[in-house]
Amino acid sequence: MGSLYISVLAILAWLILCVFMWRLHRAKQQITITKDASTLIVYASQTGNALTIANRCAQALQLSEMSDVLPLNNLTFEHLSQMEKVLFVVSTYGDGEAPDDGNLFNQRLEQALKDEITLKKVNYSVIALGDSSYPDFCAFGHQVNNGLKALKAQPLSELITLDNYDEENTVFSDIVPPWLDINNSEINKTQSSSSYSWQLVEREILNPNCGDEVLVKISLKCLGATPIWQAGDLIDIQPRNSVEVVENWLLKHVFDGSLWLTHQGHQQPLAAWLFERELPEKCHIPVSDLLEHLPYLAKRSYSIASITENKQLELIIRLLKKDDKRFGLASSFLSHHSKVGDLIEGKIRSVKANHIINNTQPIILIGSGSGLAGLKAQIASRTYAQQTLNEKIGAMWLIYGERRNDPQLPINQHLFTLKDTQLDKLSCTYSQGNNYPKYVQDILVSDQYIIKKWLDEGAIIYVCGCLSGMGESVHQTLIDTLGQSTLDALQQEQRYIRDVY
Ligand SMILES: Cc1cc2nc3c(=O)[nH]c(=O)nc-3n(C[C@H](O)[C@H](O)[C@H](O)COP(=O)(O)OP(=O)(O)OC[C@H]3O[C@@H](n4cnc5c(N)ncnc54)[C@H](O)[C@@H]3O)c2cc1C
Ligand SMILES: Cc1cc2nc3c(=O)[nH]c(=O)nc-3n(C[C@H](O)[C@H](O)[C@H](O)COP(=O)(O)O)c2cc1C
Repeated sequence: MGSLYISVLAILAWLILCVFMWRLHRAKQQITITKDASTLIVYASQTGNALTIANRCAQALQLSEMSDVLPLNNLTFEHLSQMEKVLFVVSTYGDGEAPDDGNLFNQRLEQALKDEITLKKVNYSVIALGDSSYPDFCAFGHQVNNGLKALKAQPLSELITLDNYDEENTVFSDIVPPWLDINNSEINKTQSSSSYSWQLVEREILNPNCGDEVLVKISLKCLGATPIWQAGDLIDIQPRNSVEVVENWLLKHVFDGSLWLTHQGHQQPLAAWLFERELPEKCHIPVSDLLEHLPYLAKRSYSIASITENKQLELIIRLLKKDDKRFGLASSFLSHHSKVGDLIEGKIRSVKANHIINNTQPIILIGSGSGLAGLKAQIASRTYAQQTLNEKIGAMWLIYGERRNDPQLPINQHLFTLKDTQLDKLSCTYSQGNNYPKYVQDILVSDQYIIKKWLDEGAIIYVCGCLSGMGESVHQTLIDTLGQSTLDALQQEQRYIRDVY
């Protein structure tokens, strides 16, 4: 009995020693992962790209995503002047403007210059995201770079510009300044989020017989495990050329589409490869080099109209008609060329700025046309919280504009169903015919006192849809009716969210 007692004691003592040694080892490991406390990453991002890069850089520098990666608007120049190294990752939005979470920069810069603040001790680099199809390519990145120079901060590298950033087709080490020594770091092991194959399961024209401005609802089902997304997130869709376009291009350039080609370990006929590639007017490339030289078609972003719990990913697409009477590539691919059952490649993009943290606050949802997508996702998210999770949710008011005031149209039927089942208030406007109010901004004027009352009760304003036209007019009307400083304050409190494109 005595020897058993001693054995149990010995085993216990040994176990305690093991746990102690393990904790000591862990503590040592944690001590070796010390970070440089005077390094900061600052971002300005409208649709999440700059924030994704900022977070990956934070991992590379072993910084905390929570405390060392901050939106530009949360920083003052006094705070900046305390730092040794700062990496700015900023995109450009609107017409060469700052994203909403960086829109106080120019104002603060002016003040800092007046106050003669200098950033002499600050070493910095700027990564600027943009799209060269806009006239002011990376304009805000240039503004930030010039502002830092004016305050005498020390550049650690040239301004890095990224055109139409696509995470999947970018080697991370190519886009960061050399002082981020990422070769030996954990960052190379970090996977970028992956693309999924989605099956087109349903398509519904929401405004049949309404001319060219077709609005289509499409439902996609993920092959395999469904990824997780939240209301406010986007999907980046890989568009495909139509069969007709590929066949005509092959004929014109006298290539044999049935020729099997191997590229990056995959083998398929040339015609199949070309569905996702740009097909230039002139092409003098030998067939063996084609796949190396023809770039992938640029992905297009779409607001997701559902939530993960709905089990299907819904989109609302406006078929884009271009000046020369052709249709836009991705919108015609999604609304016409692809067939029910076809597979579509798409990658979810999380847009933190669009996530609503507090569902108990009332919400005023404003949008038109395809903007219904982002608004529907917010409605779906609150409805799920209320009906499935039994959470208390704030009131929902949808202010939405479309073209025709015909109650039989599926789009209007959908709106009436939303009103009967989920919304507290619905205000619709129709731009065609002699209707009044014609546009959503007209409601913002006529109902401005009700809007102010909702805001006094803590409401969030969420705008989704086209920036030119609807988004800009809504913004201007809110400045006119609420005042610039109120709108700035709402934006700072994440109570004015613009999911506009
Ligand atoms: C955040 C966001 C959310 C959006 N949500 C929706 C939505 O819910 N519903 C909806 O209908 N639309 C939405 N859009 C618009 C959508 O992404 C497309 O712009 C629209 O469908 C037209 O695309 P298209 O391919 O049909 O037209 P196209 O004219 O073929 O292309 C449109 C755009 O794609 C880009 N592009 C085209 N070719 C190239 C190239 N060679 N290299 C680089 N870029 C190129 C350009 O920016 C161009 O303006 C959203 C856009 C953004 C940015
Ligand atoms: C509505 C809108 C306006 C834009 N305006 C510009 C612009 O004026 N200049 C530019 O270089 N890029 C412009 N862009 C492109 C973005 O900067 C680019 O897509 C970038 O990758 C977005 O990064 P973010 O997701 O961090 O905001 C615009 C994009 C959108 C959606």
